[in-house]
Amino acid sequence: MKETMQRAAVIGAGYVGLVTATCLAELGHTIICVDNDKRKLENLKKGIMPIYEPGLEELVARNRKARRLIFSSSIKEAAQHSEVVFICVNTPPLPNGGADLSAVEGVAAEIAEVMNGYKVIVGKSTVPAETHKRIQETIERISKGKADFDVASNPEFLREGHAVSDTLHPDRIVIGVESSRAEKMMRRLYRPIKCPVLVTNITTAEIIKHACNSFLSTKISFINAVAAICERVGADVEMVAEGMGYDKRIGRQFLNAGAGFGGNCFPKDLDAFIYIAESKGYNFELLKAVRKINHDQKKLLIKKMQDALWIIKGKTVAVLGLSFKPLTDDIRNSIAVEMVKLLQGEGALIKAYDPQAMEKAKQGLKGVKLCKDAYDAARNSDCILVMTEWDEFKKLDLKKVKNLLRQPVIIDSRNIYDPQKMKDLGFIYKCVGRGA
Ligand SMILES: NC(=O)c1ccc[n+]([C@@H]2O[C@H](COP(=O)([O-])OP(=O)(O)OC[C@H]3O[C@@H](n4cnc5c(N)ncnc54)[C@H](O)[C@@H]3O)[C@@H](O)[C@H]2O)c1
Repeated sequence: MKETMQRAAVIGAGYVGLVTATCLAELGHTIICVDNDKRKLENLKKGIMPIYEPGLEELVARNRKARRLIFSSSIKEAAQHSEVVFICVNTPPLPNGGADLSAVEGVAAEIAEVMNGYKVIVGKSTVPAETHKRIQETIERISKGKADFDVASNPEFLREGHAVSDTLHPDRIVIGVESSRAEKMMRRLYRPIKCPVLVTNITTAEIIKHACNSFLSTKISFINAVAAICERVGADVEMVAEGMGYDKRIGRQFLNAGAGFGGNCFPKDLDAFIYIAESKGYNFELLKAVRKINHDQKKLLIKKMQDALWIIKGKTVAVLGLSFKPLTDDIRNSIAVEMVKLLQGEGALIKAYDPQAMEKAKQGLKGVKLCKDAYDAARNSDCILVMTEWDEFKKLDLKKVKNLLRQPVIIDSRNIYDPQKMKDLGFIYKCVGRGA
């Protein structure tokens, strides 16, 4: 093994863990990736991916063949073989808004039982500030003070749908460490990647992740608030966003007005940041407003549908897109799924189609007719509701769609069509923040 190559363990083979393990293996390190979901592991060993992520399958296959990437159910095997252990398990929201850190604690405790020499235990899961202190205490207590280790934080910034390239070509790597030995090992691990490396104390690294996701959520709610004004005065929010976005201090990304943000990260990280602020005596009112605006976007869409259809009860709505954003099959906390449930509550019948998320929708959605494509969904429906801006939907034959629909109504929560063109085609078309 070359001097620069390391042995690392990645605990949790989800979106973050599987991609991290695979990309570290691709860099030349030897990685054991652990999960406690037996079915997921069996599938991974057969080359079947648990998630849709462009480029991942080939990379997993290549690195397994080279014996750099090994899947295991044993934290003991992985930790004892490794100098660096990444914790990448899920940190879901608690009812009070805080993060449920029981999986992180459980993994830290298991690692503590099997320590066999110096290791860096790295929190990669998104966690509230100061979580590393709890990880440290857990390992110290359970190992009865015998474990030789440092804790670190290495927050993850990948975007689902771009996870492989984001990991191999990140904007930056943030490393929270408080010992030079741990810093050296973390830097060595990432040495092949060319990007700025920011080394901070551990709490700062933990805060950076929550601050990033909260700031991006703020941009989205901000533009949605601007969209509300645009609708009232007849301005076009898409043009406003473009005009703002050319300003390098602002940037165009995350200024897309629409249904708001969902997914496994933004809503829960926003809640967790508000919660940790509150627990430290700071009332983060700005982020509370961001959350409220996001919540209200769904009501706005229902109102638009009522304006177009009059009565929602008994109408058939074709929902296009179920994943929380394009290029992923992830429907966790997807606004599309929330809208399906709200519309069902209003008495609508739902047909739905998504280019990648149909398998996950089968498991997670009740009482929805899942369709083979967008045209199948449109057939005899009273209305189309675009929820995810997949390219496939931008390229639909809209004349054909109109003929298939029972009523020519499209509610476009992602502003993927041109309002004038839709009008010319004879649609009743309602989008967000463009005078509609
Ligand atoms: N998904 C993203 O885009 C993203 C981006 C950045 C950060 N994060 C953060 O990373 C963390 C993981 O997110 P994810 O989306 O990968 O979650 P995930 O649910 O896809 O994956 C978590 C994995 O951990 C496994 N696991 C749970 N407990 C375990 C245990 N005791 N032993 C072994 N395996 C265990 C689960 O079976 C699952 O496969 C979260 O804190 C999340 O907020 C996620």
